[in-house]
Amino acid sequence: MKHKTSHQATEPGRNQRSAAFDHGGVMIAGLPSGAPEVERAASVASHTHSIATPAFVFDLPAIDQAAARVASIAQQAGCRALYSIKALSLPEVVETIARRLDGLEASSNCEARLARGMFDARNAIGDGKRSILHLTTPGLKPDEVPELAKLCDAITFNSLTQWERFGPMVAAAGAERGLRVNPQLSWIADERYDPCRPSSKLGVPLDQLAIELTRRPHDFAGLAGLEFHTNFRATSTTPVEATVDRLIEMLGDHLKSLAWMNLGGGYDLAHMSDADVVPLVRAAERLRSEFDLDVLIEPGSTLVRRHGYLISSVVDLFESEGQSIAVLDTSVAHLAEVFEYQRPARVLGHVIGGPHRYTLAGSSCLAGDLLAEAAFAEPLELGSRVVLCDVGAYALSKVQNFNGLAPPAVRLVS
Ligand SMILES: Cc1ncc(COP(=O)(O)O)c(C=O)c1O
Repeated sequence: MKHKTSHQATEPGRNQRSAAFDHGGVMIAGLPSGAPEVERAASVASHTHSIATPAFVFDLPAIDQAAARVASIAQQAGCRALYSIKALSLPEVVETIARRLDGLEASSNCEARLARGMFDARNAIGDGKRSILHLTTPGLKPDEVPELAKLCDAITFNSLTQWERFGPMVAAAGAERGLRVNPQLSWIADERYDPCRPSSKLGVPLDQLAIELTRRPHDFAGLAGLEFHTNFRATSTTPVEATVDRLIEMLGDHLKSLAWMNLGGGYDLAHMSDADVVPLVRAAERLRSEFDLDVLIEPGSTLVRRHGYLISSVVDLFESEGQSIAVLDTSVAHLAEVFEYQRPARVLGHVIGGPHRYTLAGSSCLAGDLLAEAAFAEPLELGSRVVLCDVGAYALSKVQNFNGLAPPAVRLVS
């Protein structure tokens, strides 16, 4: 078992908060593959028992295995798979996944530079694999577009205003132009996650797009593809087929003038059975056979979520009105989604009904900085390790630059 400190996740200079990770990040190589999830987590924990905490730990062989599974599903469905970098942009992880898939999906210039740099480095050593880079973001800025158009194979505009403002610039630079569509078909009850929520900021509403394509088709000459992304941690691909059916029903022959359709991410593909992916396979086949479209998918979190851990240590233990509190040397500031969505962290070693119950609290001054309730077979002690699981996606990126967005500049007025 070897572990090494990872390199900085995003560009030097832009990522001013990356030091938080550089001090604690550890990559793991050489874990035995195929072990059940809990054994795997326990193995990761035992192999990292001496590292300084708090530390994010990523299990590269398990990520590689997840990427192999996604690649095989993509092959079965006859589509191309791009890794959505925003889930976890550590270069070693992106590289591991990119070796298996057909390319990458970026959501900012930082991520696009990381991806293109990786492809260029690979070309420089004569690795002939042609990888593709797509980008979509609601936050395109005019001064970034020329560079992005050079870096990316395709830019998918989030709105008709982006299409009108930036389309000519992107076409002139030789990149393909796509449009993100909001299929207006919701799969997620919680609006905070739902890209199809009422008056969504994500994509052109399908009914509006259908009208515009019919009313002024010449304005969409050069539109290469459409993309949708409408789900989150889905364990069945039935929604993707229903969404494709809806797009076909609403857009019909307009689809024939396109080159591709991107079905987005949001599906836990790496952990699905062959039976679970049958609807995806059928949807892709329909798009290919009826409309001659190239089909893409762009999963993110399924490749990394289960293979990242946050390792922490107990720094204080006390009773508060009958409840045992264990203060950890981490915080919801390291696991933003625990607080944002009030979704407790998963804790390794938690035993339902276990005799030693604790509130696992973060060490910040925020009263609600609480990570989970957990019960263990043995009591915790000062210095005990507590391993928080399933934090491979969107945790480190939210400690650093989520979506590759640089933090705001800081100015003092005196
Ligand atoms: C456009 C787009 N594609 C792909 C993804 C990846 O989704 P996930 O990580 O849920 O697979 C996202 C995530 O927000 C997204 O916005």
